Amino acid sequence: MCGIVGYIGSREAYPVLIEGLSALEYRGYDSAGIAMVGTDGCRINKDKGKVDNLRKITSSCCMSGSTGIAHTRWATHGVPSLINAHPHTDSAGKIAMVHNGIIENYTSLKQKLAKESLEFTSDTDSEVLAQLIGKYYNGDLASAVRKALSEIEGTFGIAVVAADNPQVMVGARRGSPLVVGIGDDEFILASDSCAIVRHTKKVIYLKDNNIIELKPGDFSISTLDNRKISPRIHSIDWDPSVLAKGGFDHFMLKEIFEQPETVLNAMRGRLIQETGSARLDGLNLVLQELRQIDRIIFVACGTSWHAALAGEYMIEDIAGIPVEVEYASEFRYRNPIIDSNTLVFAISQSGETADTLAAMREAAHKGATVLGICNTVGSTIARESHGGVYLHAGPEIGVASTKAFTSQLTVLSMLTLLLGRMRRISHAEGTTIANALDQIPKQIKKILRQNKNIQEIAQIYHHHSNFIYLGRSYNFPTALEGALKLKEISYIHAEGYPAAEMKHGPIALIDTDMPCVVLALKDSVYDKIISNIQEINARGGKVIAIANEGDKEIENFAHHVIYIPKTIPMLSPLLSVIPLQLLAYHIAAFRGCEIDQPRNLAKSVTVE
Ligand code: AGP
Repeated sequence: MCGIVGYIGSREAYPVLIEGLSALEYRGYDSAGIAMVGTDGCRINKDKGKVDNLRKITSSCCMSGSTGIAHTRWATHGVPSLINAHPHTDSAGKIAMVHNGIIENYTSLKQKLAKESLEFTSDTDSEVLAQLIGKYYNGDLASAVRKALSEIEGTFGIAVVAADNPQVMVGARRGSPLVVGIGDDEFILASDSCAIVRHTKKVIYLKDNNIIELKPGDFSISTLDNRKISPRIHSIDWDPSVLAKGGFDHFMLKEIFEQPETVLNAMRGRLIQETGSARLDGLNLVLQELRQIDRIIFVACGTSWHAALAGEYMIEDIAGIPVEVEYASEFRYRNPIIDSNTLVFAISQSGETADTLAAMREAAHKGATVLGICNTVGSTIARESHGGVYLHAGPEIGVASTKAFTSQLTVLSMLTLLLGRMRRISHAEGTTIANALDQIPKQIKKILRQNKNIQEIAQIYHHHSNFIYLGRSYNFPTALEGALKLKEISYIHAEGYPAAEMKHGPIALIDTDMPCVVLALKDSVYDKIISNIQEINARGGKVIAIANEGDKEIENFAHHVIYIPKTIPMLSPLLSVIPLQLLAYHIAAFRGCEIDQPRNLAKSVTVE
């Protein structure tokens, strides 16, 4: 989604801004722009396409100065084009602004402003806000922004500069993240700490309806209705080196290979093998409160929704608590039934997904205790929940989520263990689960050693146009996730189904051109899955099976077998998803796709 970087300080702003934009490229975008303010006014350059285009244009023109704002745009209103790219200005050119989010009442505002003879040059909703700020600007930028925002409905994260004053920059947010990096005599304002971490680790996460005024060496934060705020300064807990590919061709591959470590990080200090349980202190709930829970609702989107679905299987099976898994985008507009014994978890890698955030707010509004399972420290979901569990997976740069998924599964396994031990599983059963979880990082490493073999299978199938993914029980969510990975990065049409559901319709699709990836693990549904494979074979389909080591029988039924180590059924998705991630990756690579930034996708979906 759109990215914002702003700089004000004592150095040249341009290199910080352009590097900052590069660090935000992973979020997905279609155009980029930059505005520099100096004593000679405001200079703007922007273009459709990559940050490198912008770099080329700006290298031949003067971009010096110590104050500037920059933006990567992901089109919502108006096609990707030069005129729609940010920064936007008011008609008089008094201010320049970059905006993330959506101005919902932009049509009525635009009509009103047009009657005042203000000329619009773009098709965007954002330009309306720039015009409004310009209209109110009279030497006090913060007041103009405040006044303009009081007329706005919708969401925004903005950075604004005034053409006549390089000594000030204003930022404000509602619904779109903004972080301020505090350096020595300088500030970096950004929508994501990836654009800041190379310069400083000291940050302030702005809250909704906060406005910040930045001057060289000084800042003040207040609410939109002008109440002063004393902010908390946080420290970024990861190293900028994670923003490099570290020898891998793509961030996605690097992140797949990081999983032995990221899964371990999610467990560290939390998994207690001796008691066969887990400590999740961040939940901020006392044991008594956890015991009273009689229903859990997970709200999430995309891959995080798949993790939630796996969590439902685990918690109902092991802890005996009824679980509902909701698409956040649906939940937010329903009238869900929630009582004080319902625990709602918002699961999100980014912690900024607009639908998930709105769903958790709706649940909180109805009186539920809302907890977060997030990766991004300081994200809005993390901050707005009553408590929660961080994944500690480090920044995930590849748009297709991989390591966050396995970390989410790890956290959900520990939650299951904790709730299960309080209710119905014995010390011995708890220890079996804890010991099996402890083995997962080593087992993932073993699967990763088959990368070459999986690449060979990918080579055989990469030209196919459709795939079906099948799984049952604990591995139905894995089938959904495998199909999502393939479609996201290779643009191949792929569908995930519960294997037995195939005969109710999708079986019509099976022919010699249809590869079927089947999760056929040695668990309680193994024999049933073999029957489903037979049904595919009978219709000429091609079967790529994910099976457990030592299962020779499966070779009689499948065209290709990828073996994974055996674990307990509840944890099997943590292993079975790894070959699916690699398969999708290699198929996309053979097709020459832009793996880390697939077309049309954004890493963090901060609009509805
Ligand atoms: C997964 O590969 C995605 N790109 C996407 O489905 C993602 O999981 C979804 O948008 C939710 O994001 P979140 O976890 O950051 O909330």
